[in-house]
Amino acid sequence: MSPNLGDVFAVPASHGASKPPQSGSASVKIRIAGVYKTFKTKKGEVPVLEGVDLDVRDREFLAIVGPSGCGKSTLLNCIAGFEGIDSGSIQIDGEQVTRPSPKRVFVFQETGIFPWLSVWDNIGFGLGRKMPFAQKHEIVMKYIDLVGLTGFEKALPSELSGGMKQRVEFARALAVDPDILYLDEPFGALDAFTRLEMRREIVRIWKATGKTCLLVTHDVEEACELADRIAVMSKRPATIKEIVENPMPRPRDPDEKAFRDLKDHIFETLGVERRV
Ligand SMILES: Nc1ncnc2c1ncn2[C@@H]1O[C@H](COP(=O)(O)OP(=O)(O)OP(=O)(O)O)[C@@H](O)[C@H]1O
Ligand SMILES: [Mg+2]
Repeated sequence: MSPNLGDVFAVPASHGASKPPQSGSASVKIRIAGVYKTFKTKKGEVPVLEGVDLDVRDREFLAIVGPSGCGKSTLLNCIAGFEGIDSGSIQIDGEQVTRPSPKRVFVFQETGIFPWLSVWDNIGFGLGRKMPFAQKHEIVMKYIDLVGLTGFEKALPSELSGGMKQRVEFARALAVDPDILYLDEPFGALDAFTRLEMRREIVRIWKATGKTCLLVTHDVEEACELADRIAVMSKRPATIKEIVENPMPRPRDPDEKAFRDLKDHIFETLGVERRV
């Protein structure tokens, strides 16, 4: 790896944190500043986040990588408003996050879909009962088409493969027209082939819909493949060690030198020994 690669890719963790959003250019969607979070358990206090600063730009695909147990999911839950913070601030569109918002949704592996409901009913579920059928049908069919499940409207989840279930999960999330998608290890339980296919799909869906995507993963290759920028977390109690720009054009080839260099740089930042 080039010794200067860090200078090429790295942006200081506090980059942008003290600057106001710029109109016209990429504006800040999520602003996380000086966030501390400690869990209080019966065994004592578990400090998890220790001064996290991170700006997420509007419509960007940002990945968060870090060692297991460092606090990635906790950070995502705090941003989504499912967990409170001890100090610091998390703002979305300039407003403090105090609770979850229906405009921002999580995409899980399969857990968000109801096994007893058809594909159509699962996707339409979040639209509520009051929406007229014709309007609901139009939205549901639009997302069934977008995720490539045309013809499976009446199928039950048990009749679908893992990748297809995940397409339902994406469609379910997108149908409520969120502005932010939170993805916490969404491909974790898929086999290697399906994971590859779903990575391609999420890039396509992200491009087609223009959502801000926040992906938590411990798969460095996945982060390099998908994200515009990659925030590397330290061990717990975690800070953001570095925010790495990923300027590679899509589609990205993991065999390309720039890709391998980027991956090496992130592993180095994580402090991971890769030889076995
Ligand atoms: N509700 C909770 N109460 C107490 N401790 C918690 C709670 N949630 C998480 N923790 C602790 O906080 C730390 C960070 O957990 P978190 O799930 O955020 O890590 P992670 O980086 O997502 O890990 P992984 O890569 O394994 O998914 C861990 O030590 C975990 O045990
Ligand atoms: Mg996690």
